[in-house]
Amino acid sequence: MNADSRARLDQTPEWTALAKHREELAETHLRDLFATDPGRGTGYTLQVGDLHVDYSKHLVTDETLRLLRELAAATDVFGLRDAMFRGEKINVTENRAVLHVALRAPRDAVIEVDGENVVPAVHAVLDKMADFAERVRSGEWTGHTGKRIRNVVNIGIGGSDLGPAMAYEVLRSFTDRDLTVRFVSNVDGADLHEAVRDLDPAETLFIIASKTFTTIETITNATSARNWLLTELKAGQDAVAKHFVALSTNAEKVSDFGIDTANMFEFWDWVGGRYSYDSAIGLSLMIAIGPDRFREMLDGFHLVDEHFRTAPAETNVPLLMGLLGIWYGNFHDAQSHAVLPYSHYLSKFTAYLQQLDMESNGKSVQRDGQDVEWETGPVVWGTPGTNGQHAYYQLIHQGTKLIPADFIGFAEPVADLLPGLVAQHDLLMANFFAQTQALAFGKTPDEVRAEGVAEELVPHKTFKGNHPTTTILARKLSPSVLGQLVALYEHKVFVQGAVWNIDSFDQWGVELGKVLAKRVEPALTEGADVPGLDESTKALVAKYRELRGR
Ligand code: F6P
Repeated sequence: MNADSRARLDQTPEWTALAKHREELAETHLRDLFATDPGRGTGYTLQVGDLHVDYSKHLVTDETLRLLRELAAATDVFGLRDAMFRGEKINVTENRAVLHVALRAPRDAVIEVDGENVVPAVHAVLDKMADFAERVRSGEWTGHTGKRIRNVVNIGIGGSDLGPAMAYEVLRSFTDRDLTVRFVSNVDGADLHEAVRDLDPAETLFIIASKTFTTIETITNATSARNWLLTELKAGQDAVAKHFVALSTNAEKVSDFGIDTANMFEFWDWVGGRYSYDSAIGLSLMIAIGPDRFREMLDGFHLVDEHFRTAPAETNVPLLMGLLGIWYGNFHDAQSHAVLPYSHYLSKFTAYLQQLDMESNGKSVQRDGQDVEWETGPVVWGTPGTNGQHAYYQLIHQGTKLIPADFIGFAEPVADLLPGLVAQHDLLMANFFAQTQALAFGKTPDEVRAEGVAEELVPHKTFKGNHPTTTILARKLSPSVLGQLVALYEHKVFVQGAVWNIDSFDQWGVELGKVLAKRVEPALTEGADVPGLDESTKALVAKYRELRGR
């Protein structure tokens, strides 16, 4: 796709047609759509791998879907998709290929960057990770004092933390329960303190995860962890090699830190941080679940990659999900998108998606640098049901904002749940189904009156409904299903970025804060007169110093 030659998105005939169609549908309720098409509940569904995707409770008709697909065609979403799979440098502002799909490609696949097939290198690292993971899991890898490793602490932030931390939580029932695995990200010393305070350093392995190996939070925490370990063990620098490994693209910085590059697991600049947990960044996860389960997860990713690459527009699930988001964000003024998993194990899933989606599509200039004149990425939020039901669902049901939501649930609980708790699964899932029904169909004033409710309370007890949801249902949570889910959202984000004509793979917006933090620090510590501090910040810094007794 040539970004420079694109017509202005909101002036294309496809966009205009959607805007007009939106007006025509303005008075249509989901109740009407189901009444006129009784087959909608089964007809508006798709299957990808293990995921049954029901989009019947969306404010769309066949015509809406057709118009949305025309928008995708006009913006050449599939052209950009193919360019990604071909290894073209579609991350235009960093002049990089975008090839997280290569991380889960089978051994015999060929995916080239600058004329070189990257798949053998991917598998070489996966093999090295598997070898290391087995050595830690079996006890063959020992610490400086000869004790086996029982604790693994991943130190990283953003994409070098959220992915493995989320996946570890999701796949907890597949982990070696004798290993303690923790994740430290915050530069607040409390994070590392709580992670190590009850650990025996002789049994602790630190995994320093940083693509650049320059991220201040990670390097600060890694340095503190090294100091803690060497002090506690009363050991010299030589102990580092047995207790620290690195996951990075930057061998030089890893070596400067004192980690033997033989204990570095590599990845490449064509893997974005938020797309990286199936690369070497997943080492802590692989140690926890074992290499076979990790491979199953990669296969799940690959299955959805292939679906996205080959399925026609009509049945392409990431395309559909991306377009539905555009329908609400650009034509219904929806500002946010909720992801509501009905699984305790998915408690960190939405937080993970926040980086994936918001760091990718939180942009306001097009690929060629011109301002966008349309809404881009939504605020993504949510926590597991049923907790959310007793907190913020009120606003989704009866508030003034339109909040499209994805409901993710499973037919069976995980295998090792205590037998007495298995029965609770039906109650959990009854809530899952009840919520999407209530959101879509609501309760009319007449239905409320028929229950004998006093007239003055009728407006309060009425549910207007018409709140759109997608239901994603799988038989059971497994490593493969997790891979499928993540790939689904990765490609959904891709689709939206392609339509909006933004670079979904850079993240310049995080830079300014980093630069300013470095500049402000001496003002806090030394009271230095930092040039360029605005009056408000200057006063706050002075207050901080006063409160600290400086
Ligand atoms: O600050 C944003 C960011 O660059 C993310 O994109 C990235 O995932 C995170 O920081 C961590 O970066 P690194 O892996 O290089 O330490």
